[in-house]
Amino acid sequence: MNISGNPGNTTESPEEVHEFVCDLARRAGELQLSRYKNPGSIREKAPRDIVTEVDLLCEELMVDAIRERYPEDAILSEEQGGEISKEGRTWLLDPVDGTANYARANPIFCACVSVIEASTVTHAAVAAPRIGDLYHARLGGGAYLDSRGASAPLRVSDTKRLEYALFGADLSFLGEVSSPSGKIDVRGLLAASWQFRALGSAGVRGAWIAAGYLDVSVGTRNTAWDYAPTVLLVSEAGGRATDLSGEPWTHASEGLLATNGALHDEVLEILAGRR
Ligand code: IPD
Ligand code: CA
Ligand code: CA
Repeated sequence: MNISGNPGNTTESPEEVHEFVCDLARRAGELQLSRYKNPGSIREKAPRDIVTEVDLLCEELMVDAIRERYPEDAILSEEQGGEISKEGRTWLLDPVDGTANYARANPIFCACVSVIEASTVTHAAVAAPRIGDLYHARLGGGAYLDSRGASAPLRVSDTKRLEYALFGADLSFLGEVSSPSGKIDVRGLLAASWQFRALGSAGVRGAWIAAGYLDVSVGTRNTAWDYAPTVLLVSEAGGRATDLSGEPWTHASEGLLATNGALHDEVLEILAGRR
């Protein structure tokens, strides 16, 4: 907070902040690409939850750049932690999303940057450098895909029937899949939709809902840095994003349902075991 009680650097326009958000994701993506197939040391920070040297380097790059330009802002980042500001702006960072993919040179990984203010996601960028894509959105400003020198608006799919829907999630059946309101019926959703896609990156999965490559995405954890980009990309691309019980998504939500909008209510019913 500065002495006026406002978040720092408020003189910048939303467009200027957005440019920085995109640049940050792009730079982290370039670093990832420069170390592709060479992720450095790998540590298992929790069972089946790994962090590579590149995760830490990307995080350092992003955190340093934000601290230099917006010293008053809060940062919550996957490896370094941090906190969400109650009144001001918070940067949510996932330096490498899809680390398990990255560590074995699977090309589906990305860097995720988003900005939230009072629980609203205002800016988001997902850079997937090996695919060559930057997905980004600004609140009220639309969602775009920058790829191979061109920029195009993102638009969700127009799939109307679940039996024709492509459903994306990264599921582990080692434990039970649960939501804040209890168990969610993911098997029911598997049975009701056409095909299932597991990408290994929540950031890419959310961007692909916005792009219309997938119709439904379910995330079952409460990692805000994974989901905030999806919330904005999908809503700016004409879709819908809520928590797993249909309530508005917040950084404290324990999961995320993102869809093309048309299928949202039906999927909520299935997840709740009501159909
Ligand atoms: C993971 C990926 C994965 C999802 C996990 C996340 P990380 O992020 O997004 O798709 O299933 O829940 O933790 O650990 O690679 O940043
Ligand atoms: Ca992640
Ligand atoms: Ca990560």
